[in-house]
Amino acid sequence: MTIKTVNQIEIITKEAGKINSCNMPDYKAMYTGFDWKNAYDNVSWFDNGKLNAGYNCFDKHLGTPVENKDALIWEGATGEIEKYTYGQMAQLSNKFSNVLTDTGIKKGDRVFIFLPKIPEVYVTFVGILKTGAIAGTMFSAFGKEALIDRLGDSEAKMVITTPELKPRIDEIRDQLPKLENVLVVDNRDGQDIRQGELSYSKLMQGASDEYDCVHTDPEDYSFMLYTSGTTGKSKGIVHAHLGIVQQDLTANIVLDLKEDDIYWCTADHGWVTGVSYGILGPFSNGVTQVVYEGRFDAAKWYEVIDKHKVTVWYTAPTAIRMLMKTPEVADNYSFKSLRYILSVGEPLNPEAIRFGLKAYGLAFHDTWWQTETGSIMITNYCCMDIKLGSMGKPFPGITAAIIDDEGNIVPPGTPGLLALKPGWPSQLREVWQNEPKFKEYFETGWYVSGDKAYEDTDGYFWFIGRADDVIMTAGERVGPFEVESALVEHPSIAEAGVIGKPDPTRGEIIKAFITLREGYSASDELLDDIKKFVKKHLAGHAYPREIDIVESLPKTRSGKIMRRVLKARELGLPVGDVATLEED
Ligand code: WTA
Repeated sequence: MTIKTVNQIEIITKEAGKINSCNMPDYKAMYTGFDWKNAYDNVSWFDNGKLNAGYNCFDKHLGTPVENKDALIWEGATGEIEKYTYGQMAQLSNKFSNVLTDTGIKKGDRVFIFLPKIPEVYVTFVGILKTGAIAGTMFSAFGKEALIDRLGDSEAKMVITTPELKPRIDEIRDQLPKLENVLVVDNRDGQDIRQGELSYSKLMQGASDEYDCVHTDPEDYSFMLYTSGTTGKSKGIVHAHLGIVQQDLTANIVLDLKEDDIYWCTADHGWVTGVSYGILGPFSNGVTQVVYEGRFDAAKWYEVIDKHKVTVWYTAPTAIRMLMKTPEVADNYSFKSLRYILSVGEPLNPEAIRFGLKAYGLAFHDTWWQTETGSIMITNYCCMDIKLGSMGKPFPGITAAIIDDEGNIVPPGTPGLLALKPGWPSQLREVWQNEPKFKEYFETGWYVSGDKAYEDTDGYFWFIGRADDVIMTAGERVGPFEVESALVEHPSIAEAGVIGKPDPTRGEIIKAFITLREGYSASDELLDDIKKFVKKHLAGHAYPREIDIVESLPKTRSGKIMRRVLKARELGLPVGDVATLEED
């Protein structure tokens, strides 16, 4: 693969001979006249039009050659390896569905997973879906406030955790009246289990491995994920079982997964990528997934690829940029197995694609989507030339457009709001108990994403930035309001304003501007203490790496902190319209 430059745009041209082996060899042919209904039969339905996304992960493969193949190759942080076939995962998830049923979990109940990347994530997630309950996932980095927000708002009945993470739940349990059970993945047959807790290992031992999967309606809810917006607390984005149609098809067409692939998605299950493309799409396609529990480390990651013979690798720009910092490490690995690589979550800069070509001999394919969209919406395809820096083209069945504030489509080349025509199968069904927030997305008649972009004359989409204050740091979506709320809980802080500051590795870092309460003065110790405080209260990844102590914050007359002004000042840009600015 080589890069050529046409009209100042670098292009990777796909070779005609290789395109034939792509699961979708002709984009135009598939996009034209595409109807989602034709994709419905790719997944497994029950009689009477019922569909369960969990059933489509493991159970549907029983009795096929996939049954005895590895669904999961798991490598722990300390190097231990566990393998589970599709048949075993079907049985384990059946057992877990029985455990849930025995503890009184019913269709529609919310059950949250608060686990590190261990095999039980997959067993419990699928087990929850098979009962018709709604699975919620959370990052293991979450602290007290993030946990209260999610478990409280969703009125979760059960949370599944480990002995190591459990103290964070213990601390807040009395504030969660609807939380009936804490299920602990203990591995010690219940020996350490305290009153009011359930032992995973003990209950699983006693549970039958036969379970009659609940025949859910395609519109019944399957999973929910909390994500940040500009204002207010994070929103519970709710998805329906029908989404599996789209997760299945995009995993096939976009990830280009084939029967014998060994696939590695580096995303955590606390993020939508870890759910749609770390569980649903790939398992529905019957491929073998590699899961690595440990933290980022260039040599270790490369070792995972070579050792487990990873063929398809889905990762994120921040990770790629981190790998780029030590290019020489790649020289020690062959990447012989690797055939297709992709990226998601932030703009994939041309430099990262060039690096991929050099280091692995492959081009990263960018994919754009959101928690709300449930699956990949705009992307670069196996069969299509890549314009470096562009996100690519909309998936078949998806109409994407660039619109103005009133919902009018703007001409090619004009920046505007990136919008989608509503009605795709994996679209969010609800913002949990918040109809106004849900409606906000659709006010123009389009689904408005919150991103700014433009479309070129060839129909390729180019990302510009967020249209709102949401911060994207190392691929994670962080709402400034949540960080500000955590900051002002600190005894020294009177007021706080938070922005995303561009960063060469992480895309953005979180930067806070604070005013101190009387009696406190600036010191390195204080700043360290504030950072630790936010890590503990909110999340390990959502703390401000930079904090400026200021005398006052720019505010509107109604008292709202003007983050736009903070950002413009930080970047040395014109501050713009400040008619409503009031600084005291
Ligand atoms: C950003 C992640 C540029 C974007 C799956 C979007 C991207 C937000 C890309 C959603 C991309 C995602 N290029 N930006 N390829 N993919 N984003 O909900 O701002 O965590 O709105 O879902 O990530 O983040 P979320």
